[in-house]
Amino acid sequence: MKSPISTISLCLVIAVPVTSAAQDVRASKSIDNRTNHDAQELLEEGRQIFRHDTFGSEAFWSGTLRLNEAMAGVSPRNALAVGLKVDADALPANLKAQLKNGAVNLDDPETTLALIRLNAVVGVHATPGSSGGAPSFGLTCAFCHSTVDDSLAPGIGRRLDGWANRDLNVGAIVSLAPNLEPYTTLLDVDLATLKSVLASWGPGCFDAVLDKDGKALRPDGKRACTLIPPAFGLAGVNLHTWTGFGSVPYWNAYVAATEMHGSGVFFDQRLNNPQQFPVAARSGSHDTRGTPDLITAKLPALHFYQLALRAPEAPPGSFDTAAFARGEQLFNGKAKCAGCHVPPLFTEPGHNLHSPEEMGIDAFQADRSPTHMYRTAPLAGLWTHIERGAERGFYHDGRFATLDALLDHYNSHFKLMLSNAEKADLIEYLKGI
Ligand code: HEC
Ligand code: HEC
Repeated sequence: MKSPISTISLCLVIAVPVTSAAQDVRASKSIDNRTNHDAQELLEEGRQIFRHDTFGSEAFWSGTLRLNEAMAGVSPRNALAVGLKVDADALPANLKAQLKNGAVNLDDPETTLALIRLNAVVGVHATPGSSGGAPSFGLTCAFCHSTVDDSLAPGIGRRLDGWANRDLNVGAIVSLAPNLEPYTTLLDVDLATLKSVLASWGPGCFDAVLDKDGKALRPDGKRACTLIPPAFGLAGVNLHTWTGFGSVPYWNAYVAATEMHGSGVFFDQRLNNPQQFPVAARSGSHDTRGTPDLITAKLPALHFYQLALRAPEAPPGSFDTAAFARGEQLFNGKAKCAGCHVPPLFTEPGHNLHSPEEMGIDAFQADRSPTHMYRTAPLAGLWTHIERGAERGFYHDGRFATLDALLDHYNSHFKLMLSNAEKADLIEYLKGI
């Protein structure tokens, strides 16, 4: 005989899945909503950090180096000439109108200070509340990895986040600082030597390893800096930097703590190697523990924002479409480019590194990285720095002045037998991706 209990439990067995299915739908909807909400929040947070967060670096740039005092003597014309960019959206309407009409005195350093106070100089963020002659400021990621669309005037326009600023002369700007003692002490060199190294960089180039290995110049006497790469089109890409130091958040912590001199944590035991990184091993920068930590909590949103920056599409008319189509065939076929630059990532899904021998180039920069390799550069959005900016070279150090020169290298090194017409088609393809 069946007990009433089992009848009840049977009812429950039938009833429960119905209710839980409805609950599941509701729950999954609310998880989706939650995720969408979180994604939006992370994106906005990341954008703010990328554009405006100094990680406390005003203590270094203004407090110690006193770069802010030097800016008090720099006219807007000279600031634009060293590649600093002005965010038109940060300007009051009357100033915008005056700039458009050429009615602003670009030779008056007071204007530079006013622009810094308005937070209108891209990547230079004034410390809130700092007033007086030269406002205190720190640097943000946008300093090197943003430019503007020149919509108002050359160097003045809407922000283009993630674009490499290949006009920015970091060395010339740092050189202006009245106190460069932290660098001369760290590197154990005199001021004249430091200044000659800073002067060797030129526009669009910065040496993010100098303060780890002390290698100021290549053995052939040429500059040792690397070109500023775009910070867009990086989603799906495994290793970052020209030599594959690590992931995006790895490199963000490296730069924020040890290059921008923000306050926070960066750790990499690989750099505690007196043979390869004598300066880092000596200074302990492989284990940077700045307090308070103004970096670590920002890495998730900063990472998320960079992943959201897609490579911008080449403007229609900026390349020949018929030649582009032929170039695409060559890229994926005879020229063997796609073997490494796998579309649409244009780098290898997987471990995207190659040895200097394989690439047919010297090992200098590769050997300054824990990997001793070169990373397959993700090429999407290459057009943004082909015909734009003061530095237009290719490869980590800009050794190929033109795409023609780069293709000549591939042609001879990989024995591709590409004709001049085929090279021209490949160039149109590279201009359009
Ligand atoms: C002073 C200029 C400068 C500043 C400031 C700067 N970077 Fe960079 N960034 C570079 C240079 C130069 C490289 C290339 C380094 C290398 O590979 O040798 C680079 C590399 C990168 C890469 C690797 C890109 C790729 O193709 O893999 C990312 C991502 C990046 N930076 C993001 C950031 C973020 C985020 C910040 C702020 C925390 C920042 N950078 C601050 C100059 C700068
Ligand atoms: C064996 C792998 C490999 C092959 C094949 C290859 N590349 Fe590359 N490519 C790389 C690596 C690695 C780099 C980065 C070199 C450096 O950092 O100096 C690079 C860099 C580049 C760059 C420079 C990007 C920049 O921002 O400066 C371009 C352009 C390029 N490759 C185009 C091509 C084309 C076109 C082909 C075919 C003819 C090709 N590559 C074939 C691995 C490869």
